[in-house]
Amino acid sequence: MSDIQRTLVLLKPDALQRDLLGEIIRRFEFKGLKIVGLKFIRLTDELLDEHYAHLSDKPFFANIKKFMMQTPVVGLVLEGFEAITEVRKIVGSTNPRQADAGTIRADLSMNVPSNLIHASDSIEAADAELKRFFNDEEIFAYEKITDRYVLGEGV
Ligand code: TYD
Repeated sequence: MSDIQRTLVLLKPDALQRDLLGEIIRRFEFKGLKIVGLKFIRLTDELLDEHYAHLSDKPFFANIKKFMMQTPVVGLVLEGFEAITEVRKIVGSTNPRQADAGTIRADLSMNVPSNLIHASDSIEAADAELKRFFNDEEIFAYEKITDRYVLGEGV
């Protein structure tokens, strides 16, 4: 079971405004990812400076921050087999018009920064982002009867 990972997802203000929270969460559930954390988060300037530090010198940095503070965002912790890579695959690439059909960004959005969703893109990012947005007591380990089919060896 060593390849079972946890990853951090944020559903951005456009997902909330466009009533796509359920649709996006459904796609992760159907894939076989387990929701082990789920809450609203009101992002602050400080949190966004940290979260988007790699973009701080970009001309669109201020716009992204403003956008991300328009409404609360929904934070999800997803657990599953190679979850970090699988979630990024389902999310699709940053520009929705270049993302592969079938991905959340390609199917449901048109523009950056309104590409609906953030997902950790590496083991290091997932470690840092899970700590940034969730306390240990907000993440829940529990068994599901479907674990045998979607976690580990799949039998
Ligand atoms: P980034 O971390 O590069 O991409 P991803 O979200 O796929 O991990 O960028 C963070 C967000 O910044 C991205 O989701 C949308 C926004 N953004 C822009 O608005 N314009 C851009 O040119 C880029 C690269 C990102």
